Amino acid sequence: MRLRCFTLLCLCCCWFVSGEAETVSCSNIVPLGFRTQNISITEFGGVGDGRTLNTRAFREAIYRVQHLPRVGGTLLYVPPGVYLTEPFNLTSHMTLFLAAGAVIMATQDSSNWPLIAPLPSYGRGRELPGGRYMSFMHGDGVQDVVITGENGTIDGQGDAWWNKWRQGSLQFTRPNLVEFVNSRDIIISNVVFKNSPFWNIHPVYSSNVVVRFVTILAPRDSPNTDGIDPDSSSNVCIEDSYISTGDDLVAVKSGWDEYGIAYGLPSSNITIRRVSGSSPFAGIAIGSETSGGVENVLAEHINLYKMGIGIHIKTNSGRGGFIKNITVSHVYMEDARKGIRISGDVGDHPDDKFDPNALPIVKGVTMKNVWGVKVLQAGLIQGVKNSPFSDICLYDINLGGVTGPRTPPWKCSDVSGFAHQVSPWPCSELSSNHQGSCANYS
Ligand SMILES: *[C@@H]1O[C@H](CO)[C@@H](O)[C@H](O)[C@H]1NC(C)=O
Ligand SMILES: *[C@@H]1O[C@H](CO)[C@@H](O)[C@H](O)[C@H]1NC(C)=O
Ligand SMILES: *[C@@H]1O[C@H](CO)[C@@H](O)[C@H](O)[C@H]1NC(C)=O
Ligand SMILES: *[C@@H]1O[C@H](CO)[C@@H](O)[C@H](O)[C@H]1NC(C)=O
Ligand SMILES: *[C@@H]1O[C@H](CO)[C@@H](O)[C@H](O)[C@H]1NC(C)=O
Repeated sequence: MRLRCFTLLCLCCCWFVSGEAETVSCSNIVPLGFRTQNISITEFGGVGDGRTLNTRAFREAIYRVQHLPRVGGTLLYVPPGVYLTEPFNLTSHMTLFLAAGAVIMATQDSSNWPLIAPLPSYGRGRELPGGRYMSFMHGDGVQDVVITGENGTIDGQGDAWWNKWRQGSLQFTRPNLVEFVNSRDIIISNVVFKNSPFWNIHPVYSSNVVVRFVTILAPRDSPNTDGIDPDSSSNVCIEDSYISTGDDLVAVKSGWDEYGIAYGLPSSNITIRRVSGSSPFAGIAIGSETSGGVENVLAEHINLYKMGIGIHIKTNSGRGGFIKNITVSHVYMEDARKGIRISGDVGDHPDDKFDPNALPIVKGVTMKNVWGVKVLQAGLIQGVKNSPFSDICLYDINLGGVTGPRTPPWKCSDVSGFAHQVSPWPCSELSSNHQGSCANYS
């Protein structure tokens, strides 16, 4: 039994909790097995001097894991040191283990960086038409892969890419730091991700993915450095992580306009728990690419500081798809431009072939126990004209702390739902006495 306390204004709140064992977790969706073989990158010529290029060492070590499989799989050990390398593919039944002080560092040479096909649910690279640069660490069609260790670092050295992007001199979409495509049974834990060229961790068309005890860092002004983006993926568990980047900390997606609609693979069963961090954009985001649909998302115990928008659900006409059964609870935010935004007019289109009549459906969004201080504007809920957002349910929300002249605290249109104990009081579109279908989502 331990005593836990926090002070709030002049109150002191204490309660007893018994043992860590009671901590709720979703991480058991992927069992962690014992690897029977342990090989070290140094056996393949790996040199951690920060200058030697280790591409061959990584590719040969992983070739060995793939072609000399052992029952139980193989652990690839990376000892302390800085291992510079070009991108490489991961394979099934492997653990990439970064010791304390191990850094796997990406080269900055975009001219030798391999290109891969665009994702079918995007139809093109996310930034530029055509293919895209392969992720620094890439897993395609793999299963039972673990990236872990003693909080070693995967460093994307993104500044060269960010500068090329700012100058408009890139020909293709920048690489993610880690991407899994069509993969399952993935664990990423106890690793630090630093300076990704683009999104940090991108599981797409994948299932049973656990990301926990990670730290993700990129400068506040780094472009599009999203933290974790589950995309057309199901059964994803994100827990106990700190993320501070230049874009959304966690963004659940499922494809882009006509390509995402045609591919039709939703993101579902996503849990985001005990995540904290800071960003000029959103803390917890859904969208804006949601054309395959997003459902059954639970985000809870989220702590945010110096934010653009605390919670942002975003879609657009032309996206189609749906956003259903989303629950966000126990959020604390401090210093944010906006607390909550649910918007039907956010995000760009891949090309001019999108169908403007492909309207998204947003239904069943519950937000409860959201507390914010120094929040400039409490909320913006703006639905789509011919597809109003419904069952938007707000309970026990307090977003305040700014004194003096301020914009209207809430702005709503094309939305229906219910609000209970919300301060400042939200717009009249949300009923205060007819709970309606919100009863099913509370
Ligand atoms: C793997 O082997 C290395 C030596 O090559 C050793 O230092 C490390 O502790 C081993 N790791 C595990 C998890 O067995
Ligand atoms: C990585 O795997 C993809 C297919 O999944 C393949 O097209 C590509 O050539 C591989 N790249 C490297 C560098 O091994
Ligand atoms: C690694 O980082 C995690 C998350 O920040 C932390 O909980 C854990 O104690 C650290 N582990 C080690 C070995 O330093
Ligand atoms: C999502 O979770 C529900 C309930 O646990 C389960 O029935 C369903 O099969 C899961 N969906 C997917 C796509 O795995
Ligand atoms: C809604 O999502 C929650 C997870 O937040 C899940 O437990 C529940 O089963 C889902 N409800 C339906 C009707 O799918």
